[in-house]
Amino acid sequence: MRPKMAVEICGIDFKNPVIAASGTYGFGSEHAEYVDLSRIGGIAVKGLTLEPRKGNPPPRIAETPSGMLNSVGLQNPGIDYFIEHQLPRLTEYNTRIIVNINGNTVEEYCRIAEKLQEKPVDMLELNISCPNVRQGGMVFGTDPDTVYDVTRNVKAHAGQPVLVKLTPNVTDIKEIAMAAEEGGGDGISLINTVLGMAIDAKSRRPILANVVGGLSGPAIKPIALRMVWEVSQAVDIPVVGMGGIVTGEDAIEFLLAGATAVGVGTANLISPTACMDIINQIEDYMKENGVEDINELIGSLIV
Ligand code: SIN
Repeated sequence: MRPKMAVEICGIDFKNPVIAASGTYGFGSEHAEYVDLSRIGGIAVKGLTLEPRKGNPPPRIAETPSGMLNSVGLQNPGIDYFIEHQLPRLTEYNTRIIVNINGNTVEEYCRIAEKLQEKPVDMLELNISCPNVRQGGMVFGTDPDTVYDVTRNVKAHAGQPVLVKLTPNVTDIKEIAMAAEEGGGDGISLINTVLGMAIDAKSRRPILANVVGGLSGPAIKPIALRMVWEVSQAVDIPVVGMGGIVTGEDAIEFLLAGATAVGVGTANLISPTACMDIINQIEDYMKENGVEDINELIGSLIV
């Protein structure tokens, strides 16, 4: 018998706990050539803003040991274009759709949430953690009062459950997660990228045009695991864990630490089939270890 892989996040059923993380899967169409998107638990689309954005100047990607830096700067076609052209295609697949929303101001976040109210979207991901923009993003996500305020306002305008996506670039992640919960957030996703930089010693210049960027990939997995574990104990809402997951076993570690589901990010840039491979590897782990229902694993870390 096949093990049960379905999980529930904020009252929404996911066929398995693997979600393609925002910014690494576009709007699904490129990956649809390689995998059946209907087999993936959910897809978090590239971060969207009210107006289209060109993003930061290049170079905006730098490879680093066991990871990569990005300073994309929320390049995206804008919420209206997404609703008209990309969302209809995505709804052809039997997967959960999570829309990552971004704004320069609280009002902009709220206007995007309003535009999505009646749309076939399963969840919003409130991105208050992008390190590559001057307004909104991480600026909002590092102060508990602002986190509370933006979450409360977006919730008042949202038609779907709201996952609040947190930045690791804070001293006390528990305090930030609790502010999101108090603001009415339905769940927490973490971690976004870790602020970093890369330098070219020959030219004596930074590699990224933006000088600093967000580090992702296996290099950040221990930080992500620690934060998922801390947050899972501090709040009563579900946690979606991410940060450096490239194998099924990595994903299992996040579930043990307390995550109900996982986001797969940078691994999608290494292999377009990463999400599917990880789903298969989770299933193999469950069979090999006599786990009949994935929910048995969530938060079952023995400390
Ligand atoms: C970016 O577009 O700069 C990355 C998005 C993010 O880190 O949230």
